[in-house]
This record gives sequence, C-alpha cells and structure tokens, in this order.
Amino acid sequence: MSAGSLVRRRTAPTASECRTRAAVHRDLRAVARIERAVFPDPWSHDMFVAHLRYAPPEMFLIAEASEGEVLGYALMRTVLDEAELLNIAVTPEARRRGIGLQLLRAAMETCRAHGAEWMLLEVREANVAARTLYERHGFVPIGRRAGYYHSPREDAIVMRAPLVDPADRTDRGPDQRESPPR
Ligand SMILES: CC(C)(COP(=O)(O)OP(=O)(O)OC[C@H]1O[C@@H](n2cnc3c(N)ncnc32)[C@H](O)[C@@H]1OP(=O)(O)O)[C@@H](O)C(=O)NCCC(=O)NCCS
Repeated sequence: MSAGSLVRRRTAPTASECRTRAAVHRDLRAVARIERAVFPDPWSHDMFVAHLRYAPPEMFLIAEASEGEVLGYALMRTVLDEAELLNIAVTPEARRRGIGLQLLRAAMETCRAHGAEWMLLEVREANVAARTLYERHGFVPIGRRAGYYHSPREDAIVMRAPLVDPADRTDRGPDQRESPPR
C-alpha cells in the first residue's frame, strides 16, 4: 500500500472491508515494501517470488482493500499433517482492525483443507502483538530456539495450534496409536 492512499482515506479499512485472496505476481512489490517497513530482517523480493512460484497459490494469501491496495499477507507451507506459518504481516497504518486475525484464520483454514492437523510458527520472544494474536487463536508455546533471530539477536518462541478436533486426528500420539497389524 502506498502511504499516500491511506492519507487520502480518512481511516484505514477494517477487516470487513477487505478480502483475502491468493497472491499474484503483481502483488509482490507491495508485499516486499510492507516487509521492509515491518521487519528488521526482511524477506527479499526474490524469496516472495520463489514462494509464489513453487508453493500452491493459496499458500500465499493477500489481504486486499476494496480499492485493491495490499494491506497484509500470510505465507504458509504444509508437509504431511503439519503446516507452518512462514510469514504474516499487516501494514502499520492498517493494524488493530482485525486484518491480521482475518489472515491468520484464512491461513489456518487453508492448511486444514490441505490435510494439515497442526500449525507451527516461530515468533520473536518480545513480539507482543503477534504473540497475543496467536495465543488468542489457539496457539500455545511448545519450545524455544535460542538466538534464532538476528538484527537484533533474539530467541524464537515456537508455537503450535491444532487445526482439527482431537477426535479427527490421524496421529493421536504414541500412547493412543493402535497396534500395527501382525
Ligand atoms: C501481528 C500483526 C500481523 C497483527 O495484525 P493486526 O491486523 O494488527 O491484528 P488484528 O487487528 O487482527 O488483532 C487481533 C488481535 O491480536 C492482538 N493484537 C494485535 N496487535 C496487538 C498489539 N499491538 N498489542 C497487543 N495485542 C495485539 C489483539 O488481541 C487483537 O485483538 P483486539 O484488537 O480485539 O484486541 C501485526 O501487528 C504485524 O504486522 N506485526 C509486524 C509483523 C509481525 O510481527 N508478524 C509476525 C511475525 S511472527
């Protein structure tokens, strides 16, 4: 999103005025611009290009205002029953309007539809906004990666949320697995 377009509006759009859709190549400049404004260690434009090229299109979601401005994005991947939230961000001018939550919900639903039963993510320990968002949406801390982030150096908290009801999980844990057939 250009700062100018938000200045022209009286207020940034709310989540109900946005739609979530799969990213296309022409979104990537706006995505990379938000990324650079938001993260001290941003993904490069080429990393976004690669994700768009090699992942299924719905694994790269865009939150778009009615005028077509890109307000946020979420990138995911799935491996068997596990999904990973690779990246999520909302442009600073459009925060606290439910757009991050809308993207997170769409990311979880998309990965569930791909057969994932869990979603994992890493978050900077001091990132209160993201941690609160995740905790309010079913994520719990399950580990820590010491010194995982650079600029500034910081630990990552690993969080996980279920995407399906426990009764529907294929892997119910070692204690509850049926014996293999003889
Ligand atoms: C994390 C982020 C995506 C949230 O986006 P957002 O659109 O502002 O989030 P929402 O408006 O949907 O907020 C949903 C809930 O998250 C929590 N939350 C969001 N921002 C918060 C903040 N600054 N402080 C505390 N809680 C916050 C609140 O519980 C909020 O609900 P509420 O507004 O009803 O209180 C956004 O802050 C962002 O882009 N941060 C920079 C990038 C980043 O850190 N990404 C995560 C990498 S792991």
